[in-house]
Amino acid sequence: MIIAVDGPAAAGKGTLARALAAHYGYHFLDTGSLYRMVALAVLSLGQDPRDPQAATRAAETLDPRSWTAEALRDESVGQAASIVAAFPPVRTALLALQRNFAAQKPGAVLDGRDIGTVVCPEAEAKIFVTASPEVRARRRSAELAERGETVAYEDVLADIHERDARDRTRSFAPLVPAGDAHVLDTTDLDISAAVAAAIRFVDSRVAKHSA
Ligand code: DC
Repeated sequence: MIIAVDGPAAAGKGTLARALAAHYGYHFLDTGSLYRMVALAVLSLGQDPRDPQAATRAAETLDPRSWTAEALRDESVGQAASIVAAFPPVRTALLALQRNFAAQKPGAVLDGRDIGTVVCPEAEAKIFVTASPEVRARRRSAELAERGETVAYEDVLADIHERDARDRTRSFAPLVPAGDAHVLDTTDLDISAAVAAAIRFVDSRVAKHSA
């Protein structure tokens, strides 16, 4: 069983995907961390994330043990991740790892941008989580403030617009809902309501799948 949770930056994918994994007892992978890892590796070497060769080298030699690095969540790393993620060889280098993770029993929940369209098009349940840019900017600002990173709301909103545009318009694996994805707009939902709606949807897919 594979649950794909895709959507734009700060839509609440991570929280939702983690809650689904806990509810069903499945493995969980935040695939954005992989792209953030690649970006962080490039930045730590003093290289430019816009350099396709540097980004590809970092992706091909990725050491997943550094996944937990606190610096991965920095805004600058998120922006750089969105830049390296547009290079096809970077995406290709990370594909096998994601697919192997998804194949684990009894099931896996992966969150990202292209899980339902490219990484696991066969996923039994696909959710596309979205929310207005303003609500996402507010949530991201609160999350950053909690981590002690003070960024003005306007800057976070501008960052979200920029990242949305880049993730949606890249030619390889752009951010787009899969044709069979359930679109979950969390603009007016709190976390528990969003999780409840997602569980209802996944249960309906499981019932359909085992019928
Ligand atoms: O979900 P996130 O904000 O941690 O992701 C950081 C960037 O990584 C995002 O702007 C685009 C990229 N990404 C991607 O292209 N494909 C994924 N499956 C996950 C993330």
